[in-house]
Amino acid sequence: MSSKFHALVTGGAGFIGCNLARHLLSLGHRVRVIDNLSTGFTRNLDEIAGDIEFLEGDLRDTSACDRATTGVEVIFHVAALPSVPRSLADPVGCHENNVTATLNLLESARKSGVRRMVFSASSSAYGDTPTLPKVESMEPLPRSPYAAAKLAGELYTLAYARAGLIEGVALRYFNVFGPRQDPHGPYAAVVPALFSAAVRGVSMGLFGDGLQTRDFTSVENVLAANLLAATLPAEQVNGAMVNVGAGQRTSLLELVDLVSTVTGHEIAVTHRPPREGDVRDSLASLERARAVLGYEPVVPLREGIASLWNWLQAHPEGLLAAEPNRTA
Ligand SMILES: NC(=O)c1ccc[n+]([C@@H]2O[C@H](COP(=O)([O-])OP(=O)(O)OC[C@H]3O[C@@H](n4cnc5c(N)ncnc54)[C@H](O)[C@@H]3O)[C@@H](O)[C@H]2O)c1
Repeated sequence: MSSKFHALVTGGAGFIGCNLARHLLSLGHRVRVIDNLSTGFTRNLDEIAGDIEFLEGDLRDTSACDRATTGVEVIFHVAALPSVPRSLADPVGCHENNVTATLNLLESARKSGVRRMVFSASSSAYGDTPTLPKVESMEPLPRSPYAAAKLAGELYTLAYARAGLIEGVALRYFNVFGPRQDPHGPYAAVVPALFSAAVRGVSMGLFGDGLQTRDFTSVENVLAANLLAATLPAEQVNGAMVNVGAGQRTSLLELVDLVSTVTGHEIAVTHRPPREGDVRDSLASLERARAVLGYEPVVPLREGIASLWNWLQAHPEGLLAAEPNRTA
């Protein structure tokens, strides 16, 4: 592969996808995005709209997949309906958007002669076992339709890779945060919801006791891992599934303290019943990511939260209109 490639970012109007599209452009790659705007927003791509090719399309539609993959060398398959509670409310919709969509994309990709697909997988595949850190050799034990669907997408990608139909790498992300993550609505992730609560001076509703832990990972780390997965030689990465985290475990209450300290706004916490399908603790082992990708987290939690606060102060529009006290 030449050093510059033609990339397709699925879900490029969403949080991780729009950051990845920007990163690829900044490195000189050619970028096409496909998104159906179900949870993503064209405003996430406003500043780069003139530099990318944007297709509004749905991966459940095979002809949209054919159009999106034509002429592409590398696919970053980021699109998904990424929510545990949403999947419990609509498991079939979750399957169609996360599994059928992935299979459609793989089929189009192999017909179009795409060289490699990097799949955005999820740490939710590990389930709620007490063993930490989560090592890739552990038996997957998904405990929600979302987790099962993400695992299925990962397995399809790796099966296509092993069958020699396309090169494939799966990256299991642990709770990602960063610029342009949506703080709104009942399915918002905890980091943007906390910043939103801090700025608006409203309380934060946490599910459970707040002592549950996560490996909160700056999106910069995810971008770095994607680039490694896309560009390293096939002999090194083809068929691999690796964790992508920061390798650091933080409770929600510690995160509340950190965001309070960084913003200078004390955040009051209220407690709600634990949420169905959630796992208690999570932490990535990074051994395989180091061995296979040479991955190292580039931004640790504290630095990532501080730099997100800087970014949010320059882009406050997304935080202020959020609904109060909806999420954790
Ligand atoms: N954010 C995290 O903490 C996290 C953790 C683990 C894994 N992941 C994975 O990373 C990926 C991106 O997550 P995100 O947080 O950026 O979510 P997001 O909701 O911001 O982005 C997903 C994008 O996919 C698009 N999309 C959904 N269904 C589609 C379809 N059928 N056709 C075309 N586009 C479609 C949405 O409109 C949206 O723009 C997902 O695959 C998710 O499972 C995220």
